[in-house]
Formats: sequence, C-alpha cells, structure tokens
Amino acid sequence: MKKQKALCRFSISMAQELVDQLDAMRKAKGYANRSQAVADMVRDQLVEYHEHVGAYEMAGTVTLVYDHHKRNIQALLTDIQHDHGDLIIAAMHVHLDHHNCMEVLALRGRAADLKDVADRLIAAKGVKHGKLTVTTTGKDFAK
Ligand code: NI
Repeated sequence: MKKQKALCRFSISMAQELVDQLDAMRKAKGYANRSQAVADMVRDQLVEYHEHVGAYEMAGTVTLVYDHHKRNIQALLTDIQHDHGDLIIAAMHVHLDHHNCMEVLALRGRAADLKDVADRLIAAKGVKHGKLTVTTTGKDFAK
C-alpha cells in the first residue's frame, strides 16, 4: 500500500505587492493555486541547495557543443567519459551541421562529482559551449 504523504498547513506573511506578483506568476505558469506554486519553488530551492552541498546523490545532464573537425576533441571527450563511466549513464550525439556536434550526457552521482566531470568536459579544448543542469533523482523527494 502506498504511504499517504501528510499535508502541513502553515501561514506566511509577506508584502501585498509580493503576493500580487506571486499570483500573477503562478496564473501565467498555470498553477491551480498558491500552494502548488510555492511547493515547486521550495523543491527548486532544495535542488539548488543539495547541489551546493555536494554530498547528495543527484541526476543531471551535460550539454556540449563542439566542432568535430577540431583535432583530438572527440578522443578527448571520449577519454573523459570513459574515466567517469560510473557517473555517466547515457549519451546522445547529434550532428547539428557539417561542423558542429551536440552531445547530451545523462549523469547520476554525488553532486560534487557531477560538477567535477562536467567541468572537465566543458573545459576540454574545442568545446564551444557546455552546460551542466542538476536535478533530483526523485528518490525521497516529495511531490
Ligand atoms: Ni557529430
């Protein structure tokens, strides 16, 4: 049987103008009520906090754009990925045009380790742009 999540009701005081802005934003984004909008904001802040702490197991993606004609770039990126086979759980390669490739890597592991491998990939000579996005693994994360 699925465990029922307990709901906690609490009140918050803030400036009317801020509440008006919150309501305008939540309506524009399609939230049915303030509670759902605020709960998503809290989860977003928790993800950011867990990423900052570094010790939490998290999921993430690294997106890399590079010119595959640049010497050694593919071998270098492959070497880094093989060095971190424990963290990189999937990879997708897209040929954007004659020169440019995009790689999207899915990662899972300690947030600090995800950042380390992402930094190495993004700093690799020949990468035009790279970005790490970290999210929750979903485990023990209330919805
Ligand atoms: Ni390609």
